[in-house]
Amino acid sequence: MGTESTQVIRVVMNGVTGRMGYNQHLVRSVLAINDDGGVPLSGGSGGSTVKLEPVLVGRSDAKLRDIAERHGIMDWTTSLDEALATLKDGGGIYFDAQITSQRAEAVKKALAAGAHVYMEKPSGATSAEAAELADEADRAGVRHGVVQDKLFLPGIRALKSLVDGGFFGRILSVRGEFGYWVFEGDWRTAQRPSWNYRKEDGGGIVLDMFPHWTYVLEGLFGAIEAVTARAVTHIPRRWDEGGAPYDATADDAAYAIFELAGGVVAQVNSSWCVRVHRGELLEFQVDGTEGSAVAGLRDCVAQHRGVSPRPVWNPDIPNVSRFPDQWQPAPLDGEPGNAFRLQWEMFVRHVAEGAPFPHDLHAGARGVQVAELGLRSSGEGQRVEVPAR
Ligand SMILES: NC(=O)c1ccc[n+]([C@@H]2O[C@H](COP(=O)([O-])OP(=O)(O)OC[C@H]3O[C@@H](n4cnc5c(N)ncnc54)[C@H](O)[C@@H]3O)[C@@H](O)[C@H]2O)c1
Repeated sequence: MGTESTQVIRVVMNGVTGRMGYNQHLVRSVLAINDDGGVPLSGGSGGSTVKLEPVLVGRSDAKLRDIAERHGIMDWTTSLDEALATLKDGGGIYFDAQITSQRAEAVKKALAAGAHVYMEKPSGATSAEAAELADEADRAGVRHGVVQDKLFLPGIRALKSLVDGGFFGRILSVRGEFGYWVFEGDWRTAQRPSWNYRKEDGGGIVLDMFPHWTYVLEGLFGAIEAVTARAVTHIPRRWDEGGAPYDATADDAAYAIFELAGGVVAQVNSSWCVRVHRGELLEFQVDGTEGSAVAGLRDCVAQHRGVSPRPVWNPDIPNVSRFPDQWQPAPLDGEPGNAFRLQWEMFVRHVAEGAPFPHDLHAGARGVQVAELGLRSSGEGQRVEVPAR
């Protein structure tokens, strides 16, 4: 007692009028953290906590004012320079959830202003841009990070705990299935922004999802050593937010094989053109010599070798096996929590007390590199190895 204190860190948040910036980062992370009293630091820091002071930045003064008024936020501006200037004494954070193509330029300004930087993935529009940003952040001597939210999902955390506990024996393969139907936008509005479907605006499912697969595979099973992918545009015409038709120039589905260090083979389907017949929008099945598991966003189930049923191929009789019922829930230690918020808390501890944070811009750049190599593999019709960096 007596040593408790509250530190305030200013966070310049760019892109908060967007889907991710508003819902996941502003409301469910930064404001939710403050509502719950801040991020507690480790005991070594005298029981102190960190509260976050958001400064909203964007292109529309009216939209920013509306958000600020709704949430009682004091600072907003359409000038990034002005917002960064308020971080005068260093120690503040710049957060970027703008569309991908706008990210690098803004982050470079933040680095020049001495801010720690945290951002949505992908951390660059090209792997060269993402790698350069990582090096520049190192040179600036600030803390840096990229959103890797899937690692913080309850289902994936339970899966990681099975991997760490040696449940699988030797892991043989991983199969990932991600996707759902995104409406074209004509008779029913699309659930995703139209820039996602325009290559010239940084869209495409490969650039969007391969960075996620990179850190999930790397974090649980091993680094990606080679990629073979086929990226396609199944639906070439869509309708935008204003109801106007446009040419979908970016890939909307990708079928990929990732070869991992240690010999695990991972196949991941990513598609905005499939209808869902599975437990969750994203599922990974992991098969190992001693057991298997299937993890989604929320849940994870497992089946051990000792209790694996013996399936027999016989289409001449009705199927009596209820395969999904033959699995046991895999436990999650701790509260599920919001994945984005958990990573925000980790980044805040990284900034405030140097706690470990492996999700840095170099990790982010590896994800963009794999996306780029996936597109190259698809274009050339061949397997591409990931060069060591
Ligand atoms: N971690 C995840 O699971 C996840 C999921 C979806 C998107 N994302 C990433 O988050 C970022 C934002 O995606 P979103 O789905 O929230 O997009 P969105 O279109 O809803 O929001 C984009 C934001 O960028 C701003 N912006 C700045 N310059 C712009 C321009 N020239 N044109 C259009 N908008 C501009 C917009 O005002 C808005 O605030 C992207 O980089 C995307 O890859 C991450």
